[in-house]
Parts: sequence; structure tokens; C-alpha cells
Amino acid sequence: MFNLILFGPPGSGKGTQSDRLGEKYGLKHLSTGNLLRQEINDKTELGLSAKSYIDSGKLVPDQVVIGMVDSFFEQHKQASGFLFDGFPRTAAQAEALDNLLASKQTSIATVIALDVSEEEVVKRLLNRGKLSGRSDDADETVIRKRFAVYLAETSPVAAHYKNAGKFELIPGEGTVDQIFESLCLIIDAKI
Ligand code: AP5
Ligand code: MG
Repeated sequence: MFNLILFGPPGSGKGTQSDRLGEKYGLKHLSTGNLLRQEINDKTELGLSAKSYIDSGKLVPDQVVIGMVDSFFEQHKQASGFLFDGFPRTAAQAEALDNLLASKQTSIATVIALDVSEEEVVKRLLNRGKLSGRSDDADETVIRKRFAVYLAETSPVAAHYKNAGKFELIPGEGTVDQIFESLCLIIDAKI
């Protein structure tokens, strides 16, 4: 199994690159953001409880997200590898992921972080907000809140992987093709 984490702030291109990488390398794309939005669309209890966190740019509680990842794993037992996008976002989530992968006799091969500035993020997400209907893209204050939450709660998770020698930072500004090429170079060297 080859398991990869795409790391980086909101709007850094994790989803865009995951779609392409998942297809090229046959990895199952696990985006906790997409799973949560699906729950909201389906009007499930989980979705209803997650919505207020998402709309205000805060993180959904760990136990909700970890439970969702567990069941995604159960549903895709045959996958040859996973591409994690937007997960883990806290130390507790990183620990839960380590344990989950260890129980399947596997682990994270590498973490690649996309480096994008706050101003570029705001520009990209305001632009997407005009079309996407994503409630958390509509308001600049919420976008900046998401960025601040990333700095305070998620970026420290990088140390967990740096200590294990499994962390690489690449420029996330440039064309989608350029960034895809940089990602493929790193993955090809590890896979
Ligand atoms: P989530 O859905 O994960 O969103 P996010 O991390 O805030 O970021 P985005 O999905 O907006 O950005 P992205 O990095 O995927 O970039 P994308 O490719 O879309 O999370 C949403 C919310 O759910 C969180 O705030 C939280 O409440 C909750 N949540 C999710 N996971 C959680 C977890 N694990 N724990 C707790 N809570 C959780 O690109 C963005 C835009 O930029 C697009 O329009 C794209 O076309 C454009 N773009 C992409 N690449 C480029 C480029 N190279 N140049 C120019 N534009 C580009
Ligand atoms: Mg995304």
C-alpha cells in the first residue's frame, strides 16, 4: 500500500491536485471536507452537526472526523493506497491515522505540503466562492479564519511527520501543471 498526505492551507490546491494524482497513481482520494459536505447535502445528523463549524471556518470535532475516516476505510478495504486531503488536521487526528494504518500493517509513505500565501488563498477562494456555492468561500472573514485555524491548529501537525523524516514542502503557487509535475517527481522517487 502507498499512502500519501497532501498538506497545506485552505485553497492551496489539495483537492485539485488530488484528483489528478488519484487517477495517475490509482490512489483512493479521501477528502474529509468532501465527505462532510456530502453529509450536509444528505441532511444526516452528522452533517447537521458539522455545518455550523464549517460555516464559521472552525474545525469539526476530532471524534466526528475520525469516525468518518474509519468508516471510509472499512468501505474501501481493497484500495491499493490512499491519498489523504485535508486530513489529518490536528495532533489527535494524526495519531488516530497512525493507529488505523498500523492496524492494516501499513503507514504513511510521505507528506507533501503546498506552500501558498494567505493573500493568494484569499484571492483563489473568493474567486471560487462566486461560482461554487461553498458556504465557507462566500465571506472573506471566514476564509481568513480558516487560514488562521490552519496556522494555529493544523500546521503544528507537520512536526509529527518531520520528526519521522516524512515531510516535504513545495511551492504551491504557479500553474496547476507545474505543481502537478513537482508532486509527481517526489512520488515517483518514493513509490
Ligand atoms: P476542506 O474541504 O478540506 O477545505 P480546505 O482545506 O479549507 O480547503 P479547500 O478545499 O478550500 O482548498 P484545497 O487546498 O483543496 O484547494 P482546491 O484544489 O480546492 O475543509 C472545509 C471545512 O471542513 C474545514 O474548514 C473544516 O470545518 C471541515 N473539515 C474538513 N476536514 C476536517 C478535518 N480533518 N478536521 C476537522 N474539520 C475538517 O483549490 C482552491 C481553488 O484554487 C479552486 O478554485 C482551484 O481551482 C484554485 N486553484 C488550485 N490550484 C491553483 C493554482 N495552482 N493556481 C491558481 N488557482 C488554483
Ligand atoms: Mg479541498
